[in-house]
Amino acid sequence: MSTHEVDRQLRERARAVIPGGMYGHQNTGPLPDAYPQFMRGGRGARVWDVDGNEYVDLMCSYGPVVLGHQHPAVEAAAAAQAAQGDCQNGPGPVMVDLAELLVRTVRHADWAIFAKNGTDATTMCCTIARAQTGRRKILVARGAYHGSAPWCTPRPAGTTPEDRANLGHYTFNDLASAHQAAAEAGDDLAGIMVSPFKHDAGYDQELVDPAFARGLRALADATGAALILDDVRCGFRLHLGGSWEPVGVDPDLSAWSKAIANGRALAAVLGNDAFRGGAQQVFVTGSFWFSAVPMAAAIATIGALKDEDAVQAMHQAGEALRDGILAQARAWDLAVNYTGPPVMPYLTFPGDQNHELAGVFAAQALRGGAYVHPRHNWFVSAAMTGDDLALALDATDQAFAAVRKHLGQ
Ligand SMILES: Cc1ncc(COP(=O)(O)O)c(C=O)c1O
Repeated sequence: MSTHEVDRQLRERARAVIPGGMYGHQNTGPLPDAYPQFMRGGRGARVWDVDGNEYVDLMCSYGPVVLGHQHPAVEAAAAAQAAQGDCQNGPGPVMVDLAELLVRTVRHADWAIFAKNGTDATTMCCTIARAQTGRRKILVARGAYHGSAPWCTPRPAGTTPEDRANLGHYTFNDLASAHQAAAEAGDDLAGIMVSPFKHDAGYDQELVDPAFARGLRALADATGAALILDDVRCGFRLHLGGSWEPVGVDPDLSAWSKAIANGRALAAVLGNDAFRGGAQQVFVTGSFWFSAVPMAAAIATIGALKDEDAVQAMHQAGEALRDGILAQARAWDLAVNYTGPPVMPYLTFPGDQNHELAGVFAAQALRGGAYVHPRHNWFVSAAMTGDDLALALDATDQAFAAVRKHLGQ
């Protein structure tokens, strides 16, 4: 029987000194009670909470952990750089090495700028697009998440209407709506931001229609606006060359973070030569943006992703997980929607009000040792072994049993 006593004590202490006890996407307050708030560590595809309960990790820190926790080559590279220096009066040589590596790896990229978080990168894409074009409006898909800055946070508390005054909205995969939004922006259109597929939290996911992607590219070309790909969540999980390389569409600017350094704090904006001038004009910086350790970790991460054919390994693990879960759903005679790419799947129950059944499923999966999420897509890492998969599937089978029981049939 798992306990959560240490977690309970930490939550109590946190309530006194951290507003709300916790905040942001990792706040387990809205999740079923089974979810621990505080974690102790991880190795490979396993993680432990502060009470020592072990889980197969199907959230991967909400994306950053792509090769598995404590990947030896990444940890060795980070430790070697840390022994020399991290936060200094200037960046280390690794900054140039990493920029060269990204430009070689990601098809549309001619240059790179580094930061810390995905929000830094998406915000900077807007700033660079505006600096380059001298225009103001940025189009985003309705309901899409691009970060937590005032212009894009999903919760309006503390923001002003002016923060969003220069946004226009379209519907993902609906090219006519993008054309309409562009027409409304008129000659003030600076950029069109889009995610590689529709991965709005809490909703079934939707892969991109290649014709829509090509249509956005043509719209950006026709208007002189930047096509901005928000690859923060998908980058290096779907494809090493950028998530739209298989679709055959190159953005002008792309935003990266999460997986590029296997869990170290790093973000990047990659761009083509047409937007280099704008990137040179803007003043963007941060005290920790030039830290060398995460950059060394990123170089090792990209090297290991290539050497281990990790994208393919994740894809295979993701397909096995999907096939196992769908077979279980059939065996339990439960209708499910299992959407998104196999490496970033999301499970819902059709007609499930307020994620009630998803909550029952996820809580029991967690108790059975598989860390999934009821309201957010999951993430598969390349560290998943056959044993991890078997354990995860055993847990999801128990989870379907719990849903059946909850339905009283
Ligand atoms: C698609 C997308 N864009 C931007 C962000 C913001 O990244 P960060 O939380 O690192 O600021 C996220 C974070 O989940 C994301 O999924």
